[in-house]
Amino acid sequence: MTAPLLLAWICAAFALELAAGIAVVLVRRHRRIALAAAPTAVQSTPRAGQAWAGWREFRVVRREFEDAAQTQCSFYLVPVDGAELSEFKPGQYLTLALDVAGDSGTASPRPITRCYSLSGRPHPLHYRITVKRVGPPPLAQGLPPGVASNHLHGRVREGDVLRVKAPAGRFVIEPDDQTTPVLIAGGIGITPLLAMLNWWLAELPGRPIHLYYGLRHSREHAFRPWLEQQAAAHPHFHLTVACSRPDPGDEPGRDFQHLGHIDIELLRRTLSAGHHRFYVCGPPAMLSGVLPALRGWGVAPQDICHEAFGPASGDAPGAVTPSPASPEPGAASFEVRFARSGRTLAWDGRDASLLAFAERHAVAVDSGCRAGSCGSCETRLIEGQVGYAEPPDHDIAPGHCLLCVGTPRSALVIDA
Ligand SMILES: Cc1cc2nc3c(=O)[nH]c(=O)nc-3n(C[C@H](O)[C@H](O)[C@H](O)COP(=O)(O)OP(=O)(O)OC[C@H]3O[C@@H](n4cnc5c(N)ncnc54)[C@H](O)[C@@H]3O)c2cc1C
Ligand code: FES
Repeated sequence: MTAPLLLAWICAAFALELAAGIAVVLVRRHRRIALAAAPTAVQSTPRAGQAWAGWREFRVVRREFEDAAQTQCSFYLVPVDGAELSEFKPGQYLTLALDVAGDSGTASPRPITRCYSLSGRPHPLHYRITVKRVGPPPLAQGLPPGVASNHLHGRVREGDVLRVKAPAGRFVIEPDDQTTPVLIAGGIGITPLLAMLNWWLAELPGRPIHLYYGLRHSREHAFRPWLEQQAAAHPHFHLTVACSRPDPGDEPGRDFQHLGHIDIELLRRTLSAGHHRFYVCGPPAMLSGVLPALRGWGVAPQDICHEAFGPASGDAPGAVTPSPASPEPGAASFEVRFARSGRTLAWDGRDASLLAFAERHAVAVDSGCRAGSCGSCETRLIEGQVGYAEPPDHDIAPGHCLLCVGTPRSALVIDA
């Protein structure tokens, strides 16, 4: 071999080695970047699967009380068509249409719709909801008890079929590597938080999570055996039960950890330092105490997620939506035509929403959450403009409007 040829071979071998070295470094660097950009928690977030449109029939295959007082009952629902279940994100809810019989035993003129959070972790074969039986308001005379919850508790049996809309809702847990979730439940507000907790303990058992569960007394403590088992099994799960009016037999330490309501003092005392994200669910009265307190404590708005379990309904058989005494001063007036009902009515600004307006005039319209989330009241807008004080949670289909949170901005023709 000549000297130049030998030199050429040496140079080629050196260049090849250099190229291989650079390639290894680049691959390692790429892997490091990819790992850093994909925290494991985010990878584990469940993806919502294909949802169905409209109503689908589900059979109740199991009923089970979850508290000693037997006021909270779980219903396990399996699709009648036998097809696959849609996935859901922990925190989402189902909307049910119920044919509720009136006092005389006759069916209501139209089904009533209500939302119920999915209370279990995603399961391939069934959904679980848990419903609290709602009595008449304690201080009001002569009002009927909650229509849908009493119908579910009193009349719906194993084997019965219910019509159900696909899981929906944006009150879902969003795990990230920086924040620790703090779940705060008031009474039956435990249901979406239970789904979140259930999912978290299964997917991210090494990461801390807190649950503060506010009750009046321990007979209302739903899912108690399960919660206590999980707290014993998971050192990173911190459970605090707060009782505001314990029964004489309730013992501190055994039945509850805190006497009174969940407040900032309790959180300050029991939460470790760090960045927390708060998920709060309960009746409106509980939220109106907890949410301003969290903000006052300095929690950033993006770290406070909440869901209220809806106000009283006006579409209960026999219930009348209270009509406000007089229109808002200076409110615009518009003509609203309900095309299918053949009614043309004058909007004068006295009603809080088109839903309240329709109900006051006995125009048949659907509703569920009455807060712009479930889409039950979404109705085709044939003509005119509807406005919203705040952008609703539900994504409104083009050419439609949400009656429960919408008010007219012009004369309207509505397909109802
Ligand atoms: C997103 C979401 C998720 C939810 N998840 C759950 C859940 O997981 N579990 C659960 O149990 N609930 C849940 N709810 C609440 C549920 O949807 C119902 O609101 C609840 O079951 C009460 O419905 P009802 O038909 O029994 O009561 P309603 O008939 O709506 O009555 C409610 C209350 O109003 C009173 N009332 C009746 N008529 C009048 C009137 N004219 N004026 C004043 N008061 C009146 C009733 O006596 C009763 O106390 C959820 C709500 C939402 C919005
Ligand atoms: S009733 Fe749920 S969006 Fe209007």
